[in-house]
This record gives sequence, C-alpha cells and structure tokens, in this order.
Amino acid sequence: MKLLKNLVAVMSVFSVAGATAAQNEPAPIAVAVTVDTSKPGPQIDRHIFGQFIEHLGRVVYDGIWVGEKSAIPNILGYRKDVVDALKKLHIPVIRWPGGCFADQYDWRDGIGPRAMRPQRINVLWGNVPEDNSFGTHEFLNFAELIGADAYVSGNMGSMTPHHMAEWLEYMTYSQKSSLTDERRRNGRDKPWQVRYFGVGNEVWGCGGDMRAEYAADVTRRYSLYLNAAPGQEMIKVASGPGANAAGYEAFTEVMMRNAGLFVGNAFQALSLHYYTFLTAPDENVATIVKDQPPPAQISAVGFSRTDWSSVLHGAMGMDQVINTMSAIMDRYDPKKSVALFIDEWGDAPAYKSEAGAILPDHQNNLLDAEVAALTLNIFQRHSDRVKMANITLMINAGQSMILTNKEKMLLTPTYHVFDMYQAFQDATPFPVAVSGPHYADDSGFSLPAVDIAAARGVDGKLYLALVNLDPSRSADVSTNLVGAAHGKVLSGPSMDTHNTFDAPQTIHPVPFAGTNIGGGNVAFILPAKSVAVVAIE
Ligand code: AHR
Repeated sequence: MKLLKNLVAVMSVFSVAGATAAQNEPAPIAVAVTVDTSKPGPQIDRHIFGQFIEHLGRVVYDGIWVGEKSAIPNILGYRKDVVDALKKLHIPVIRWPGGCFADQYDWRDGIGPRAMRPQRINVLWGNVPEDNSFGTHEFLNFAELIGADAYVSGNMGSMTPHHMAEWLEYMTYSQKSSLTDERRRNGRDKPWQVRYFGVGNEVWGCGGDMRAEYAADVTRRYSLYLNAAPGQEMIKVASGPGANAAGYEAFTEVMMRNAGLFVGNAFQALSLHYYTFLTAPDENVATIVKDQPPPAQISAVGFSRTDWSSVLHGAMGMDQVINTMSAIMDRYDPKKSVALFIDEWGDAPAYKSEAGAILPDHQNNLLDAEVAALTLNIFQRHSDRVKMANITLMINAGQSMILTNKEKMLLTPTYHVFDMYQAFQDATPFPVAVSGPHYADDSGFSLPAVDIAAARGVDGKLYLALVNLDPSRSADVSTNLVGAAHGKVLSGPSMDTHNTFDAPQTIHPVPFAGTNIGGGNVAFILPAKSVAVVAIE
C-alpha cells in the first residue's frame, strides 16, 4: 500500500513535468533511511561547489571569453549567456589559469593593452596559439562579475618567487608603487581580493617533477615570499598529491611533516587531485597509475551497464582517498587547521575525447550527473576537513557545466546537479544511515544502490540529496523524517541521456515530491538512475 502510494505520487509528478518514467521497470528496492538531526556536523563549506578553468581547448576562449567585438552577445567580452547561467549557480570560487598551464604561465604576458600582449604557444594543450587576451584583469573581473572568490594558481614550476610576489603586489596592493601604478594604467584602480593562492600545481608532475621532500622545501621557500597586501586574508594552498598514483600517502605525509602547520607553516590548505577512471570491480582506485598504458575510455554517448558501474565505482573511490589523507593530516594537525582542497576532480579521464585530440572534450550525460552528486555527497560527509573542491572543468572540457557552440549554449546534467545542490551551500550536515540492498551487475560490481546526504540549509530547511545508482530499478525510500517533502529530480530514459544544441532541454530537473506513510514519515519512490534534492518542511 505504502509502495503503491509512493508510486502514484512519483508517476504523477513525472507525467506532469513531461519526463520519462520507465514503464516496465522491475519492482523497486526497499531502502530505509535514518537521519540523526541530534548530531550536527561541521558546516559544509560552500567552496566545495567550486569551479576550475584552464587555458585548455575552448574552456576560456569561446567558453567564457569572446571579446568585446564578438557577434555573440557579451558583457565586456564575456559571453552573456554563460555569465547569466553561472550567476544562477552562485559559484563560490573559481580556480585559474590551470592546471598544468599555470606551471608555465607568465602573468606579465596577460596584462596591458590586448593588442600588445605577446603571442605564445600553449605547449601543454595542443601547441595552439595563446594570444593572452584573457589574463589577470580578465580573470579577476570575471570572478567579480559572477560573484565568485578568486583562486589564482601560481607557477612554482618555472617562475621565480620574486616574479610571483610581484604578481601578488600587482593584484592586491592599494599603496602606490610601480606595480600598482601599472595596474592603474591598465584600467584597475582598486586592488582585487585574491582569497586563495596556489603555491604550485601538481609539483610531482607538470609543476616541477619534484620528489616529496624537495617539493616541501620549495613550497616553504616560495610561500615565504607570497603574501597578499596586509589586511587581505589570503589562504595559501600547497600542491598536494595526485591520488591516481601509488605513493599519495607518502607525499601527504612529507608535506604535512616538512612544510605543515608546525614546521614552516607554508600553507593553510593542502590540495588533492583525484580523478575518476574506469575501474575493475576489485580495483583499488588509488593505485591506478595515470601514466601507464592508456586507461580504457568510453564514449560519452552509447556505453554499457558495466561501464556505468565501473565509472561510479571509480567515483566512490574519492571517499577512500579522503579517509586516508585525513588520517595522515590528523596526525600532524589534530585540530584540523589545515584544510583539504580537492582542487581538481571529475570523471574526464573515463571518456574518449570526441575531438579525437588530447583534449578532454566530450558530451556530458546522466552518468556524469551521478558522479557529480555522489562526489558532492562524499565531500559533505567530510566537511570537517574538506573545505574546497573545484570540478574539472567548468566549460567545454572535462565534466562541464556548460557547453558552447558558436552562439549556442547548453546546460549539462552536471550543471543541473550543481544547481539542485545549492541548498547545501554552507549547510549543516547530519549523519545518515542507509539500509538497503546493493546494486550488482553481471560483471561483478556491487555498489550501494542509494546514496543519501542530509543537511540543514541556511534557510532553516532540512534537505536530502538522494542518488539512485541502479540504472534499472527505482527505490522505495522510507525515512524517519516527518513533514512535507518537495524538490526536484533529474533522470532520463537512458544512462547516457544528455542535452544537445538542437535539443537542449532533453534532460533537466523536474518537480519531485514525497508522500507520508505511517506516522507521517516521509517516503519517496526514487526513479532508477536519478539524482534528487528535496526540502522537508
Ligand atoms: O585540467 C586538466 C589537467 O589535469 C590539469 O592541467 C592538471 O593539473 C591535471 O592533471
């Protein structure tokens, strides 16, 4: 009876909204959820919903910057459609200019009259021309325009600390100096606020190919000289490990021991890069070595159920990696003063590039939405240590929020997840116990069928984020919560449901409501392969 009531509720919501409810689905699985509202956790830092842009493919040029003379409607050179869409997400922070691009970037190339800026070759990403028309002013003004904090990634790989310190003076000082006068001549009187500064990026790889001990020493040396103007609080972010290779534990250990809080105090946050690859059922996700035989990749449109499971299994590895890193950080910093920033994450490496080039340029589908939601739930459960995360990449590459094609733009399923999850920005999380079956497929994967996070939003409402990983079975979710439940759900008829420039509304969130069962408890029929966010009032 309870099940029937729930089914009727969800079917009617779906038919009203025009979304596709599977007609011949097998019976829903039963899932029981207990949210413990008596145990609030540390606030979920809104910066976990951060973004990352790099001079790579069409991320910056075309995606954000078209120039003032473009026929594409723009605000001072920034695409208007993109700016409007990003503003709606209330993006808390954006990281720029890379990535590996940052490790070869000379900030002086990107200031002054655009026509006079040097043309370089972007040797990192395809040897394409880089005309530097998007530089320091364009980035910091863009961050201000969309209301995001600026996270500038410094070049510790190939630039001197002196040169980098000058960049900070140029950006953040108000006192008169040759550098601040130059900034004024270039059109900006007031200093910008640089809330976060990356002391290097992937120092174990493209950012200098350093071993851990050396990296810790170099971080200390650079950090000493890298300061924003007095009175301007700036978090220094040390380049931490990449967890897709063995040895990330040792790297974390050395950075914390040799440059952390009580020795050198070179950083207030340590970064982690963790990407989702295709994984085997028994694979330890943290030992996949990126640089070894090219990992298998799928096409973003048209993949199997095994691929679906494999990618989700890889995404869930984030939890294991954060647990391991947190345990090491706890030993050196039990009060958790040093934050963990996952300033690159996403499932780009799981996909073949549609362009056939080295650039991760591909469609974004319902599977990406699931990866995004699962990962954001993991971050929320680690709100004690994880204070920022930046998805790779914001536009036109990687796990994009937005895709553009000349004058056209579309919002991806990943965008819709970030939109729905806005309720969790600065929310207070609660522990959730989920009891129910695993979703298992024929190839040996077994994953928890439903993943749920709960938090009290800054508006005082209790929110649930629900992810159904099972691609073919809905879930009959009963909870210990009482009230009226309403929100949005994102799903689609196939695992690779996606938007196209000709059909940009194929997948978008639709209204979703719960029902009340015995004792007034809230219950849902959560569709197969779906992400939902609901408020309980
Ligand atoms: O953005 C993709 C690349 O992935 C970044 O440049 C690098 O830091 C990472 O390995």
